Amino acid sequence: MGAVAAVRRDIQVPVTEPGNPTARLRVDNVSLRYDTPSGGVFTALDSVSLEVPDQQFAVIVGPSGCGKSSLLYLTAGLAEPSSGEIYVGGQRVDGPGADRGMVFQSYTLFPWLTVRQNIEFGLKRKGMPASERKEVVDFYLNEVGLTPFADNYPKQLSGGMMQRVAIARALANDPQILLMDEPFGALDSQTRMQMQKLLLRIWEHSKKTVVFVTHDIDEAILLGDRVYVMGARPGRIKQTLDVPIQRPRDLDMVMDHQFIDMKRQILGLLHDELEDAH
Ligand SMILES: Nc1ncnc2c1ncn2[C@@H]1O[C@H](COP(=O)(O)OP(=O)(O)OP(=O)(O)O)[C@@H](O)[C@H]1O
Ligand SMILES: [Mg+2]
Repeated sequence: MGAVAAVRRDIQVPVTEPGNPTARLRVDNVSLRYDTPSGGVFTALDSVSLEVPDQQFAVIVGPSGCGKSSLLYLTAGLAEPSSGEIYVGGQRVDGPGADRGMVFQSYTLFPWLTVRQNIEFGLKRKGMPASERKEVVDFYLNEVGLTPFADNYPKQLSGGMMQRVAIARALANDPQILLMDEPFGALDSQTRMQMQKLLLRIWEHSKKTVVFVTHDIDEAILLGDRVYVMGARPGRIKQTLDVPIQRPRDLDMVMDHQFIDMKRQILGLLHDELEDAH
């Protein structure tokens, strides 16, 4: 990792956002550069700006290496931008925090804890009393359909079930924003569709602000209110598209003409990217 992308360990007083106070997430002119072994500089993100209003489901699609995960890591406070700033709920991101929940593609559950203990982990750390913890965990176990598996260990679960625990764990902490990096990328297509359906339902209930990264265009349109199409070399926002499809959504909508029109538009933008790369 280059010097300009050092992991943050400092804790500073949060700075309040000067701009739009209603944006749950504001990424303001963020660039991320890495020093290359040959002494040059590689620009992973170039002047990226976006605003995600409260309760919006924002999706990011783009070619491999365009900086999607980097943008989520910066928002999570796991790395710092080379320039520009990120605000969550009006506070400048200055390191990791429980106000941002993360769900990754790889399974990140604690293998030595049961499903229930995994979900309540953050609540325990916050010092929530046991009775309240139980109430919250029971609610989210039910939301993700895992009540009968509360006392199982992760190794006793399927991949889809593990991701359901990860979603429940993130939501149980009641974060301001949920950051999801290809959470269904490792699942087979049938399980993936089940998970999309489940996430749609949970989102209708929780109306959390979400930033969701995917390679799957159907998934992007099905889940998102707004889709950011990124380009690579350097990583940047190429186009922002609002999804004109009503909610509540269901999986059959992938056959609607509005859906197909939007899919064609996004595919066109991504194909341009692939051609530019050759
Ligand atoms: N620590 C690092 N040092 C140097 N370059 C890095 C580092 N981390 C990421 N990169 C580069 O930054 C670019 C963006 O990476 P990132 O993982 O954000 O892409 P992505 O869009 O998530 O890709 P994918 O779709 O494959 O997950 C890539 O070209 C990657 O090689
Ligand atoms: Mg990635």
